Amino acid sequence: MTQVVSCAVIPAAGLGTRFLPATKAQPKEMLPVVDKPAIQYVVEEAVRAGIDDILIITGRGKRSIEDHFDRQFELEYFLETKGKEKMLTTVRDLADLADIHYVRQGEPLGLGHAVSVARKHVGDRPFAVMLGDDLMVDESRVLKAMIAAHETHGSPVVALRDVPRADIGSYGCADVDDPDEGTGRPRVVAVRGIVEKPHPAEAPSTMAVMGRYVFTPEIFAALDEVRPGVGGEIQLTDAIALLLDTGPVNGYVFDDGRYDIGSKLDYLRATVELALQRDDLGGPFAAFLEDLMARRGGTLSAAGADRT
Ligand code: UTP
Repeated sequence: MTQVVSCAVIPAAGLGTRFLPATKAQPKEMLPVVDKPAIQYVVEEAVRAGIDDILIITGRGKRSIEDHFDRQFELEYFLETKGKEKMLTTVRDLADLADIHYVRQGEPLGLGHAVSVARKHVGDRPFAVMLGDDLMVDESRVLKAMIAAHETHGSPVVALRDVPRADIGSYGCADVDDPDEGTGRPRVVAVRGIVEKPHPAEAPSTMAVMGRYVFTPEIFAALDEVRPGVGGEIQLTDAIALLLDTGPVNGYVFDDGRYDIGSKLDYLRATVELALQRDDLGGPFAAFLEDLMARRGGTLSAAGADRT
């Protein structure tokens, strides 16, 4: 019988070079999206999907991630004496979100390498991998569905989204058997092949691997065999390709609601969408955006700015 997925590995040891200079002295996973660091959304998504054991892969300069999920007694005392009960609960609850563990990846040798350092902690359990800079604005629907697919089929599952062909070279790309292609429905598909960052003209499809995975421990043996690939990094995609030699791998195709906050544009998109969803901020923020558009002559485009 397939084991329940109760453990998640969150790689957060990358250098975040696409978001410099903001990430020179702080982890990109700690960039605030509205009022929470990105990685807190990821941890909350895991907890909502039924995961209670979380391993965060950290590295040099990532201490603030550990501090964020730890108790902060001085701050708690201050909030208590000032009678700021609501904020006090928010700060205290953070330390109780889940059972969070940390292991350091000595050198950022690639996402595959980051996952391989989780081996001892994971042991012989199935587990999820959730990229620490990927936000899902979806109440954990994708992760829950991926875990359910794993529990049904027993195979590894990768999250997939159809992207424009010009963009596929930024992602892992899966060749899939997809009878429901074009329906737009979230669905489970069979992965036939997978390749990291292909040239758009040579990509086998436009199905891009997004930052959520469910694995069985077999991934560790595959990672042992992987040699440095694209960018000289140990690529997780290359290990998944090896898994396909010995058994099935499934994809879970979803539509939207995913943001890579390591990219400046996606970071802005995530901030706007999440701010608009907030009960306390959504109304005034929407009013601001509408006002901004009106002031720019009815458009938000850069050209509109010139007309005002
Ligand atoms: P990215 O490729 O987006 O992270 O990896 P990066 O290398 O920090 O990004 P840029 O290109 O320099 O801006 C996806 C996730 O994998 C983690 C990152 O922290 C991120 O959450 N990662 C990546 C590791 O933990 N270790 C690595 O060696 C590489």
